[in-house]
Amino acid sequence: MSFLKIANVSKSFASTQVLNDINIDIAEGEFVVLVGPSGCGKSTLLNTIAGLENVTAGQIEIAGQDVTHTVPADRDIAMVFQSYALYPNMTVEKNITFALEMRGMSAEAQRKACAEVSEVLQISHLLKRKPGQLSGGQRQRVAMGRALVRNPQVFLFDEPLSNLDAKLRVDMRTEIKQLHAKLGTTIVYVTHDQIEAMTLANRIAVMNGGIIQQLGTPDDIYNRPANLFVASFMGSPSMNILDVTLAQKKTGVEVTLPNGDKFTLADSNIDLKSLKDGQVKMGIRPESIMEKAPASSKDFATLNQLIDVVEPSGSDTFVIFQLGETTMNARFAGDSTVKSGEKIKFHLDLRRVHFFDPETGDRL
Ligand SMILES: Nc1ncnc2c1ncn2[C@@H]1O[C@H](COP(=O)(O)OP(=O)(O)O)[C@@H](O)[C@H]1O
Ligand SMILES: [Mg+2]
Repeated sequence: MSFLKIANVSKSFASTQVLNDINIDIAEGEFVVLVGPSGCGKSTLLNTIAGLENVTAGQIEIAGQDVTHTVPADRDIAMVFQSYALYPNMTVEKNITFALEMRGMSAEAQRKACAEVSEVLQISHLLKRKPGQLSGGQRQRVAMGRALVRNPQVFLFDEPLSNLDAKLRVDMRTEIKQLHAKLGTTIVYVTHDQIEAMTLANRIAVMNGGIIQQLGTPDDIYNRPANLFVASFMGSPSMNILDVTLAQKKTGVEVTLPNGDKFTLADSNIDLKSLKDGQVKMGIRPESIMEKAPASSKDFATLNQLIDVVEPSGSDTFVIFQLGETTMNARFAGDSTVKSGEKIKFHLDLRRVHFFDPETGDRL
């Protein structure tokens, strides 16, 4: 049974439609991440869940209650924003307990609740400070503490880590994941960062242009992207996308690459009859193009190509080469010794190629 149900939600600002028929059923305790490029409607969707924006159409239920027209204060949710929005003149403790005081909780109960969340967030030593005396990461913790202390049914996070530097962002990401494992609260988390989405989510909703492009587990989204948008958006460096031609042969589906090289997929279940002329988009991720492969394995196609650029990143070596007009990126091991200008063998893992309809972009 779904705990947070978003049913047929649409939202327009004047004549501009920002959300288009959004449907997500979220189970109790689930961590769902909304990810997509800037302006795709993530914050607007989160705000409709919070009640900060009205929906134009559709319905929102929390724990079996229709809250579509309920004010934010009565929805039992807590939100953490990118701008921490702490009260600058209040101490950390006061920032955390303010909402409890508003509810009329006794001073003793407030102190106890504050002590508990400060312990979880490791900010007990900061309670007497003002926000101006804290680092960015500490302020972010206080903002989370303020949400946690209310013990809500649902947490909403809107890009909570975007203002932190790279290292702290990674540390806080881990802490949020640990926190979720410990508390088991339902979370809807917005980010434009696909790594954050992959690492945190039980399920990811990839959005673009106010539409959910795909809703699935990180494994679904990464390994079985529903369309070209999801394929290109998730993964860094991006999936390589090539124009290829498919033809049915006795031994399987023959794929002709942009440079004229061909290989055959023995057990492909693509329905070629639905394609006009066999022209499709093929996707292959950088890590599926390898420097080494088992000798003469039928699962690999070998290309002989000149290396244009080698980009060592420490843990990986990115190797850029041309295939016809298409610039390709391959991810080799960090200790690879290949050099630009060298002609080498690239091994394409045929178990990990994706095909898309060039017109609709849909996965074939
Ligand atoms: N109050 C508003 N009035 C008019 N347009 C808005 C308003 N809020 C957001 N928008 C527009 O809605 C679209 C989605 O915005 P938003 O939900 O903030 O995107 P995201 O969080 O994914 O970056 C954007 O094109 C934005 O300009
Ligand atoms: Mg936003």
